[in-house]
Amino acid sequence: MHFVVIGGSGFIGREIVNEIHRRGQRVPVVVRQSCYLYDHGSLSRNLSLISPDAVINSAGYVGRPNVDACESNKSECLAANAVLPGVIASACRMNALPWGHVSSGCIYSSANSNSSSFSELDTPNFTFRNGPCSFYSGTKALGEEVLRDCQDCYIWRIRIPFSNRDCQKNYLTKLMNYDRLLEATNSLSNLDEFVSATVDCFQKQVPFGTYNLTNPGAISTSEVVDLIRQSGVMDREFKFFRSEQEFMSLAAKTPRSNCVLDTSKASDAGLVMSPIRESLKKALQTWVTQDHQSSSLQFPVAA
Ligand SMILES: NC(=O)c1ccc[n+]([C@@H]2O[C@H](COP(=O)([O-])OP(=O)(O)OC[C@H]3O[C@@H](n4cnc5c(N)ncnc54)[C@H](OP(=O)(O)O)[C@@H]3O)[C@@H](O)[C@H]2O)c1
Repeated sequence: MHFVVIGGSGFIGREIVNEIHRRGQRVPVVVRQSCYLYDHGSLSRNLSLISPDAVINSAGYVGRPNVDACESNKSECLAANAVLPGVIASACRMNALPWGHVSSGCIYSSANSNSSSFSELDTPNFTFRNGPCSFYSGTKALGEEVLRDCQDCYIWRIRIPFSNRDCQKNYLTKLMNYDRLLEATNSLSNLDEFVSATVDCFQKQVPFGTYNLTNPGAISTSEVVDLIRQSGVMDREFKFFRSEQEFMSLAAKTPRSNCVLDTSKASDAGLVMSPIRESLKKALQTWVTQDHQSSSLQFPVAA
């Protein structure tokens, strides 16, 4: 099966490309420099020239260094997270291509709900329609709304990705580098298991639709910190904000989503993610520092 990855230069996109390579396939990447992504005619012509069997979209605007940056770059955030999925849907429809879109579990928050975990049937509650929300979460929910009637499409919700590779966007690295941490209970996604599940969707012919792709279970920040210390990867004292209010007043511009996702639909469909504590322990046992990581994979960019 031949894939094209849109946004394959990003943190998640690169890992999807690596996963497809591991399965012995070449994979062209479509990036902003090679194609005007926002014009469905131009994107459609690119897809038609490459002639893949399926398309994966991991392009999006997440804000740097974090989602607070989305509050001051709203037009790019809205375009990349809400408009672009619709353009890709249209280009894929024109080429009769199945495709998948990387969404986020951050469209839910437990703070304003009684729900203990959110399934794919629950209406997102950290959105512009059902607020309050961060601008980033609002645009991710709009992206899903744009795709609501889309046939032949997967929507994969990833949440707080981590892996065994020390890097700026890895949740474990973030925890080890922040001065103070916010205590919250969340679902998390092992990035390697997530990307494997996305490619499996096509190869196992999983029914199209929305899937919460997080590791089963939930874990609090302090429990993750305990696992980091027990693993020996880092044994310093971790400091916490006294409350979410203190975090908001000292370290954040916009509220964060904290939530637990129900993973039963994905597991029933054969998309296997290991239990969260097991997955975290394994990542920490096999931890690779930045000095020991091989240089990033070279991938062909579509003309
Ligand atoms: N990382 C997370 O914690 C996380 C969690 C949940 C969901 N997600 C979702 O996963 C997707 C990928 O996130 P990521 O962490 O891999 O982000 P990333 O490392 O910033 O990569 C983003 C990708 O999207 C492209 N891109 C950025 N801004 C764009 C724009 N305005 N128009 C078109 N393309 C644009 C980038 O291209 P260039 O290389 O040209 O900049 C890059 O290929 C996003 O949709 C995000 O919402 C991420």
